[in-house]
Amino acid sequence: MAMHRRQEPITMLTAHDFPSAHVADRTGMDMILVGDSLAMVALGMEDTSEVQLDDMILHCRSVARGSKSAFLVGDLPMGSYELSPEQGLASSIRLVKEGRMHAVKLEGGAEMAPTIAKITTAGISVLAHIGLTPQRQNALGGFRVQGKSTSGAIKLLQDAQAVQQAGAFGVVLEAVPADVATLITKKLRIPTIGIGAGNGCSGQVLVQVDMLGNFPPGRFLPKFVRKYGDVWSETSRAIEAYRKDVKERSYPAPEHTYPMPREEFEEFER
Ligand code: KIV
Ligand code: NA
Repeated sequence: MAMHRRQEPITMLTAHDFPSAHVADRTGMDMILVGDSLAMVALGMEDTSEVQLDDMILHCRSVARGSKSAFLVGDLPMGSYELSPEQGLASSIRLVKEGRMHAVKLEGGAEMAPTIAKITTAGISVLAHIGLTPQRQNALGGFRVQGKSTSGAIKLLQDAQAVQQAGAFGVVLEAVPADVATLITKKLRIPTIGIGAGNGCSGQVLVQVDMLGNFPPGRFLPKFVRKYGDVWSETSRAIEAYRKDVKERSYPAPEHTYPMPREEFEEFER
């Protein structure tokens, strides 16, 4: 909130386990998101609908162990908060107590306001998520930009104002025209965290494996991702080199082995 007041951009990155959290924390990310995108990037699932609250808690706890200073936000997965505000609060308490998160994130706008109010009133901070909400991908007709029409943009603004009114401390804007995201940011008191929403937001979030380039060639990458690394190539190069060395018996080399006194070995040989 202090960064937001002084208009300093807020940096956020996803993490899904101990090492990915450790590196994000030590490189100075302001916030770490344990996104339900871990369903795809860590668990090999088709989409986020399969991931369970128990899965999220296991990963959240691993991320919490790897992080010292970042503000930690855990995603409420599909099915863990839509039934009632009480269900949302019960799941949020688990993400905080068992998952060691500082806050939770949930998808939805005005219709989620009672749930956001219930959770925040209990003292758990909520980050809202509007625009392209992947948990609703089938209802949205796939992964597509939201708020492109005047009426769509008005709906987004109303949703943003509703989640702010309900007590959300911030709101993720995903796949929203940059002009719309900038105007929404200007009209809100709380920070907006953009992903595919241009640089007029109060902060940015990306999925770590996407920005690292830690995925096989040919995988679809959304337009908004900047690939800052080529971790998949580097990992492949290293594993291929290891494979070759083992096949050629050039690994392990003498320096990787434990010596034994000559006499002891000769005795053993006899
Ligand atoms: O699950 C996730 O990684 C997210 C971000 C893309 C915002 O929700
Ligand atoms: Na998510």
